[in-house]
Amino acid sequence: MLKGKKILLGLSGSIAAYKIPILVRLLKKSGAEVKVIMTPSAVQFVAPLTLSTLSKNEVLCELSDNNSWSNHVMLGRWADLMLIAPLSCNSLAKMANGLCDNLLMAVYLSATTPVVVAPAMDEDMWEHFSTKENIKKIESFGNFIIPVENGELASGLVGPGRMAEPNHILGWLENYFSNANEFVGKKVVITAGPTHEAIDPVRFIGNHSTGKMGIAIAAEFIKRGADVTLICGPISQSIPAKAKLIKVTSASEMLEECMKVFVDADIAIMSAAVADYTMEFPEKNKIKKKEDSMSLSLKKTQDILKSLGAIKKKNQILVGFALETNDEKDNALLKLKDKNADLIVLNSMNDEGAGFGFDTNKISIFDKHKKEYFFERKSKGDVAIDIINTILKFSNA
Ligand code: CTP
Repeated sequence: MLKGKKILLGLSGSIAAYKIPILVRLLKKSGAEVKVIMTPSAVQFVAPLTLSTLSKNEVLCELSDNNSWSNHVMLGRWADLMLIAPLSCNSLAKMANGLCDNLLMAVYLSATTPVVVAPAMDEDMWEHFSTKENIKKIESFGNFIIPVENGELASGLVGPGRMAEPNHILGWLENYFSNANEFVGKKVVITAGPTHEAIDPVRFIGNHSTGKMGIAIAAEFIKRGADVTLICGPISQSIPAKAKLIKVTSASEMLEECMKVFVDADIAIMSAAVADYTMEFPEKNKIKKKEDSMSLSLKKTQDILKSLGAIKKKNQILVGFALETNDEKDNALLKLKDKNADLIVLNSMNDEGAGFGFDTNKISIFDKHKKEYFFERKSKGDVAIDIINTILKFSNA
């Protein structure tokens, strides 16, 4: 599956480096060419000789060796993809801040190829606020992250932080290379996050949407070569670097931006949690506390998905979401029909680990030809893959 692909594999100092000889074997067996770079601390965990023997290439560790200089610029250009595995907490922090004190970081900073990392660290380090921020930061630079796995850690703790298993890393790479150009030339519009409807200058009506699902879909489309426009309500998540970001606040602003970009879009995915009601007359000044009770006069917002459904052309694919608490399938099918969507992604609030704020989601998808697809609970990244693969099936049917 990776025949002829050139993989530049960088190792940083983590005990998970003991799995890398297996990974190199798997990469070679699947036809890839592999060159290895190691940081000085990675060398303490696995011998360069092991990796040079398995990769059939010299292993580079230093920026200069015996008065000769390792050409980090050309190494980064040689590769089809740079994989940093394991990525230690320290090297992650260096990547996030552009530090360049070893060959691996010099190659990373000058690489023109896509970069994917497989982090490895102990649970407490993985959960630390600075690690989370650094991961967000390197993701926002356009790097891809292979999620850590749960299990026994070097400390004896059991939890998240293990580097993805070598066969999972191989699977990620195979998926990446087989899909990399699938959506080249396609324009995709995605809405994400909540909308905020102003009550007065300091208050609003909103909801708990974090935008994670829409961002995961955007990241997957970008990985597959699409030209992505992300129309986002107020969120704090980082956005994939290659997405065109349009920030909005209210439902009416989101509608206006969607109408502008939908005309040229091939695919539109409405994953935002748009407010259904907005203030009839938002107050210009802060409302003062006077009465013991008060009521607000609200009016319906215009349904964005339905508005796009009304002008949709034959060659455009429109995907909606349905968040339900009861009669889930019936309600989702009603929305699919009523809003003239091609597919609808159902989230049930009754499913464990699904809905606002979770890193996982459990979905079912229904298409307008009555095909149904059911999926297990997965990370939002994997759910994005399922959604996009289902869109492909629908468009090829
Ligand atoms: N949606 C929209 N514009 C709105 C409200 C919803 O585009 N003003 C879209 C959402 O982005 C989603 C789909 O419609 O793709 C369904 O949203 P959901 O909140 O599940 O349903 P509603 O149509 O709002 O109906 P209800 O809240 O009564 O379930």
